[in-house]
Amino acid sequence: MCGIAGYTGEARALPVILESLYRLEYRGYDSAGIAVEEEGEFFLKKVKGKISRLEDALMETMVHGTSGIGHTRWATHGEPSKANAHPHFSEDKSLMLVHNGIIENHEQLRQKLTTNPEFKSQTDTEVLVHRLAENYEGDLTEALRLTLQEVEGSYAVAAMHLNEPGKLVAARSGSPLIIGCSGDGNYIASDLPALLDFTREVIFLDEDEIATLTPDEITVQTIQGEKRKKSINSISWDAVQAQKGGYKHFMLKEIAEQPQVLRQAMQGRVDGSRVVFPNLELDEEVLKNLKKLTLIACGTSHHACMVARYWLEEMTDLHVEVDIGSEYRYRSLNYDAGTEMLIAVSQSGETADTLAAMRKVSAQGVPVLTICNVLGSTMAREADDVIYTHAGPEIGVASTKSFTTQLLVLFLFSYFLGRLRGSYGEQPDLLEKLIELPDQVDSLIRDRSLYKKIAREQFKKEDFLFLGRHLNYPIAMEGALKLKEISYIHAEGYPAGEMKHGPIALIDEEIPVVVLGPTSRVYSKMLSNVEEVKARGGIVFGVSMVDDRSGLAEVCDYQIAIPQTAELLTPFLTTPPMQILSYELAVRRGCDVDQPRNLAKSVTVE
Ligand code: F6R
Repeated sequence: MCGIAGYTGEARALPVILESLYRLEYRGYDSAGIAVEEEGEFFLKKVKGKISRLEDALMETMVHGTSGIGHTRWATHGEPSKANAHPHFSEDKSLMLVHNGIIENHEQLRQKLTTNPEFKSQTDTEVLVHRLAENYEGDLTEALRLTLQEVEGSYAVAAMHLNEPGKLVAARSGSPLIIGCSGDGNYIASDLPALLDFTREVIFLDEDEIATLTPDEITVQTIQGEKRKKSINSISWDAVQAQKGGYKHFMLKEIAEQPQVLRQAMQGRVDGSRVVFPNLELDEEVLKNLKKLTLIACGTSHHACMVARYWLEEMTDLHVEVDIGSEYRYRSLNYDAGTEMLIAVSQSGETADTLAAMRKVSAQGVPVLTICNVLGSTMAREADDVIYTHAGPEIGVASTKSFTTQLLVLFLFSYFLGRLRGSYGEQPDLLEKLIELPDQVDSLIRDRSLYKKIAREQFKKEDFLFLGRHLNYPIAMEGALKLKEISYIHAEGYPAGEMKHGPIALIDEEIPVVVLGPTSRVYSKMLSNVEEVKARGGIVFGVSMVDDRSGLAEVCDYQIAIPQTAELLTPFLTTPPMQILSYELAVRRGCDVDQPRNLAKSVTVE
C-alpha cells in the first residue's frame, strides 16, 4: 500500500526522503512524488512508475531545503498517473499533503468546499487538501485537526505549509505512521525500514493522533485536541537486515534467512520438554477456562492458522475455528467472553480486515492475542497480549520467513496450551526434532539446482495444481498462492481427497501437479491420489521424505526430497520447496519477484 516519508532537520531533505521512499518500495506502488520547501516555495516532483524514475527526474536538481514530504502511491481512486501521484497541493501551492488510505466521504467533503478550486487529479486526497486550505488560519496542526474531524475513512497523512517553514504535521487513523527522532532532525514514515538508515528511536502514533514535528521538537495530541505524552522506543532491527545483502532478490534472501529466524523465534521459548512464553501476560486461568479458540488472518497468515488448527486439535481439547479476516468481520456470531479467545495472526500487524475482525471480537469482551512480526504495530498495541514472531524485516511482498516463524509460534503455542490444560503429555522427542528444524531447512535451501531445472522445463505452463492432505493441505494452498502472486501462473491448492469431486477433470499432460506427500497418517491416501493423476497423463512433482521407499517417490516424475521429521513438523519442511519452486519459476518468467504487479505488502484498506 502507499508509503509516506517526511523529514525536517539540518540535512538536505531530498536525499533523505528519496532514501526512505526506496525503503518503502516493498509495500507496492505505481507512482511517486516528493515536495521540499525551498526558499519560500515548494519544489515539487512527481512521476508515474518507479522511484528510480523520480530519482532520474531529480538528477542535477540542486534543492537545498531541509524539510519535505514524499509518497509512493498504490492507486485506489483514479488510475496510476503523474497527476494522481502525491503530494497534492492547494490552489496557491502554499500547502502540500500526502495521504495513505481512503477518504470514504470525499464526495460530501467536496460539497462542503466554500471556495471553488480547480481539481487537478481524480483522487479523494485532493478534496482533503482543499478542505485543509479552507480551514487554515495560520496554524497547520489546528487546521488538520479540524479537517480530520470531518473525515470518514482510514488514513495516514502528512502536510506542510509555506507559512510555517520547517514544520511537518502528520496524523493517522486506520493506516500506520511512525515518527523517527534523532539529533539531526525528525522523520515521518509508514514503516520502520524507511527510518532504519537514519535512526532507531521511534514514536508509534496511536489511532486518531496528530504529531507536529520541527527539527528539534515533537508534540502529539489527539484529533479531539487532548495533549499526549509519548514514549520513545528503541528498535533493534538494523538497516543491514532491511537490505538485500548480495542476494538478487529480497525474497531469496528471506527464504535463506529462515534457519536463522526459526532459531531466533525458538530462543528462550523451548526449555527441555517445556515450552515457555516469558513475556506472555495473559492470565493462565483465562487459558485454562477456554472452550473455543478462533484464529483469524488473511492470505499467507491464514494458511498458517489453517495448519495450527490441526496442531491445536491434536494437542488441546478446544473447539478451534479458523477464518479469513474479510469474511469473519461480517459474520453474525454469539460470543461467550468467559470461554473464548481470538488469535489474530499477521506479519505486518496492520492488515485492515484482520484488524477489523479483532476489534469486533474485542468489543464483545473476548480476549485477543496477536501473533505478529512488526514491533509496535497496531495489532500488537490493541490486542490484550502479543507474541512476536521475530522474523526481522520482511521486504519481499511474498511472505516467506514470516510464514515459517508464524508456524513456529503457533506450534509452540499449541504445545504450551496443551500442557497447561493437561490435554497433551510431555513430548521431549518432538521438541528435540523441532530444534533440528533450522538445520534441516538450511540443508533444503542450499541447493536450488533441481528447482532451476523444473523451472526451465515448466516455466511456460499456465496452470499448476498443488495437492496435500491434513497438515499439508494448507501448505498446498500456500504453494499455489506463492506461485500465482509472483509468477502470475494460475495455480490452485486443493485437499487431495477432493480431486475426484471435480478438479481431476483438469488433469492432462499440460498441467504440472505438485504433491505434498511426506510420511504421515495420510501417506497411502496421497499415494492413491498420485496414481490417479499419473493414470491420466499428469506430470507429478512429489515432495516426500528422503528415505521414502513406499512408492510415492517412484510414481512421481520428480522427487523433491525433504529430511526425516515427525509428522506434526512436516509443514516446516514442505514449505521451503514451495517457496523456492515459485521463486525459480517467477525468475525464469522474468517477473518482478519482490514487487509483483497489483500487490502491496501491507494491506491497510479493506
Ligand atoms: C502472500 C502475502 C499476503 C499476506 C496477507 C496478510 O505472500 O504476503 O497474502 O499474507 O496480505 O498480511 P499480514 O500477514 O501482514 O496480515
